[in-house]
Amino acid sequence: MARPAIVFIGFMGAGKSTALAAARKAGLETTEIDELMEAELGKPIRQAFEEDGEEAFRAREEEVVGRLLENADGGAIALGGGSILSERVRKALDRHIVVLLEIDAATAWQRIEGTDRPLATSEEGVAKLLAERAPFYEELADAVVPVGDKSIVERAFPAIQALEAMPEGTRLLWATSASGDYPVLVGRELLDTDWWPLDGTGFCITDTNVEGHARRLRSPEKVLAFSPGEKSKTLQEVGEVVRELASFGMTREDHVIAVGGGVVGDLAGFCAHVYQRGVPVVQVPTTLVAQVDSAYGGKTGVDIGELKNYAGAYHQPAAVLTDTATLETLPPRDLAAGFVEVLKTGLLAGGPLWERVRTIEAIDPGGLDDVVFACARYKCAVVAADERDGGLRHVLNLGHTVGHAIEGVSEFAYLHGEAIGLGLLAALRLSDAPDLREEVATILRRHDLPVSLERAVGVDDVLAVLDRDKKRTAAGVGFVLLSEPGKPRTGEIVDPAKVREAVKELYP
Ligand SMILES: NC(=O)c1ccc[n+]([C@@H]2O[C@H](COP(=O)([O-])OP(=O)(O)OC[C@H]3O[C@@H](n4cnc5c(N)ncnc54)[C@H](O)[C@@H]3O)[C@@H](O)[C@H]2O)c1
Repeated sequence: MARPAIVFIGFMGAGKSTALAAARKAGLETTEIDELMEAELGKPIRQAFEEDGEEAFRAREEEVVGRLLENADGGAIALGGGSILSERVRKALDRHIVVLLEIDAATAWQRIEGTDRPLATSEEGVAKLLAERAPFYEELADAVVPVGDKSIVERAFPAIQALEAMPEGTRLLWATSASGDYPVLVGRELLDTDWWPLDGTGFCITDTNVEGHARRLRSPEKVLAFSPGEKSKTLQEVGEVVRELASFGMTREDHVIAVGGGVVGDLAGFCAHVYQRGVPVVQVPTTLVAQVDSAYGGKTGVDIGELKNYAGAYHQPAAVLTDTATLETLPPRDLAAGFVEVLKTGLLAGGPLWERVRTIEAIDPGGLDDVVFACARYKCAVVAADERDGGLRHVLNLGHTVGHAIEGVSEFAYLHGEAIGLGLLAALRLSDAPDLREEVATILRRHDLPVSLERAVGVDDVLAVLDRDKKRTAAGVGFVLLSEPGKPRTGEIVDPAKVREAVKELYP
């Protein structure tokens, strides 16, 4: 049987020629469609557009690209920006590894302005064309590599090639940040694959509920399981884990593997950061919270009493393996709590993700892969722009200011996601968005999530913890507010009386 080719798709200026150079460096034969078309037509593409019109060009392109993809056996191919408009081409892409080189309209324009591409006529025109093509690119992509420096595809290439041996439907996101980039793989049964992103020995940190999943991995030398739940996310537990890693003889050439939810990821990531001043960590998230949020972006840490995440560090993962099939063993309450992070991301992203999230009738752990991938992309894009929480990354705290306070005061009687759900309601009240607040409350109820606060958690206690929020500056605690999906605002200082009202409103 013919092997799949690696096929680069994407808009003008996305870097398809550079991507092909990376493929050649890896020893693959490459074909660039624009060059092939010029050879077939015997003239430059611009001239073909002018003399024969776009329609004639597209018909010929469909024939050439369709035939090439149908017969391809391995190698790498870069399509023209508009090649995917043909149904025959899209169908032929099915058996190949399709890599979307992602670029925004402004950057594309910067790169192509003044070149002889026939459709690069104006910035507005380019933005319109990209908006028309984006749904096709999205639908076809098995891997997404964001626009970056000249060697980004070269770094991502081993992970792209690894997709061939991954379970069907696995998707790759190449996550970037100021301190380094890494592969994020999202798919089913990834725990059982042979591929592993790092050399050296892996030492697995997990909790006793997830240990069974951890033991499915091929690579770990040792599996170290602590008691599940937020109460383990302490400095004392860090001390114990580090001591055990040392007793196993772990060295700086080895790495940590974090298999579990956000608690395991935060704690194990922090242990990796401090162990002998830093070893790599591979995150293997197994809860919905972790798969859509906490495993990406490198925030690690522990709680100090009721002060959430007060001791921590930034430590980007070396890779994230998100096996969505692990969600099937997750208790329904944890699955629902995780859905709140999905809801939060939908609110922040707006657009198609919000439309998808708001219409989910029941949380089916077997049917969330597209949502998990979209949320991971949103989070990674935010981190790429602001790794160290200097500005944009604050948006991710939507609902977290009040939510964290509730979580701490209730002594973690509320799961993280449940508390954030209540925090979202408070944030939307403070945002003067009553209709959106009502819709979010309806969604929370639909998934059996709390929409009101137990009396045992006092208003004054919540407000007191809120006052010590990490995001506090001399001016007060900065809230993330949002009047409509997709349009968050950060650092909003709110009248304390209004905050009290928004928290009081959470009581039945
Ligand atoms: N670092 C970040 O950027 C970030 C972002 C969001 C949340 N967080 C942190 O994440 C934590 C909450 O995460 P969480 O909800 O994943 O908590 P968790 O890790 O406590 O997991 C919830 C429960 O599910 C169990 N579990 C995990 N995977 C399972 C599976 N596949 N099958 C059966 N049981 C399973 C766990 O043992 C635990 O009992 C909080 O501490 C929060 O502060 C961190």
